[in-house]
Amino acid sequence: MSAGTLQGDKTAKPIRGAGAVRHFLDIDRLDTATLRGILDSARAIKRDPGAYRRLLDNRTLAMIFEKPSTRTRVSFEVGTRQLGGEVVVLKMDDMQLGHGETIGDTARVLSRYVDAVMVRTTGEERVHELAAHASIPIINGLTDQSHPCQIMADILTYEEHRGSIAGRVVAWSGDANNVAVSLAHAAVRFDFELRMACPASLGPSPALLEWAAGERTGRVVCTDSPEEAVRGADLVVTDTWVSMNHTDVDNRHRLLAPYQVNERLMSLAKGDALFMHCLPAHRGEEVTDGVIDGVHSVVWDEAENRLHAQKAILAWCLGA
Ligand code: CP
Ligand code: NVA
Repeated sequence: MSAGTLQGDKTAKPIRGAGAVRHFLDIDRLDTATLRGILDSARAIKRDPGAYRRLLDNRTLAMIFEKPSTRTRVSFEVGTRQLGGEVVVLKMDDMQLGHGETIGDTARVLSRYVDAVMVRTTGEERVHELAAHASIPIINGLTDQSHPCQIMADILTYEEHRGSIAGRVVAWSGDANNVAVSLAHAAVRFDFELRMACPASLGPSPALLEWAAGERTGRVVCTDSPEEAVRGADLVVTDTWVSMNHTDVDNRHRLLAPYQVNERLMSLAKGDALFMHCLPAHRGEEVTDGVIDGVHSVVWDEAENRLHAQKAILAWCLGA
């Protein structure tokens, strides 16, 4: 690999279900070699950012937001600029897309102006439709169903602190939300055990568990006991009880209160276990101050790694 380029991953195996355009839609849609290649690139860029400051020269990323964001917006914008590229930020309400223009037509038009689109939206079918009609890469910046960029940053963070995640035990305590689904995809692709602790009515879909069970690597199991999931774990992960697409606030608070990651629950994990949260956190709800500010927590490294992981995702999508 020469300085200033990231050619090493161009020989990665073909992506299942993808055409010539390299979309980053979900972790389960990419093979392990491709995902590993992206993480290798992220580490290289993080080690020597100056060597890659022309990587996206003359390239423009458009970002479409149908939901709020702090980390995704800032890390993609700063990351693109640090690689020499430009960004255009579009809020759904300001776009004709929010006023009746179709997703397909939006995709065709943006493909004539910019080099890639990052989209944060509601249903995953909206991202898939954008990708189906775009001739440029589409990146999933969170849907109701998944958050793959977040989990790439999480794997990068775990491996920086503890080495390979393969064979490790990861515990999730909360509902089987978008972040949890991408974590389950990662369990298969990066070959670790994911123990999901969820209330029965907020657990993963049977289809997700069946998919994981049918794959040769990784393991995804579900319990309603946070203690059972966390006992002996290498990594404990949680997220807000009420995601941006949820409306049943009181019901979720009631069901998820026993799943709070507090000092008592964390003490059941391995002594050197890490704690992660994609943020924003609701302190005193899904996590206590003692855990998020405590010795196990790597949440600020995790947030920083959004920047490095997404630079590598952009580089892979654009073949840079
Ligand atoms: N974790 C994450 O995606 O944060 P934002 O909603 O602030 O982008
Ligand atoms: N599950 C959360 C993640 C926020 C980054 C949500 O969708 O609101």
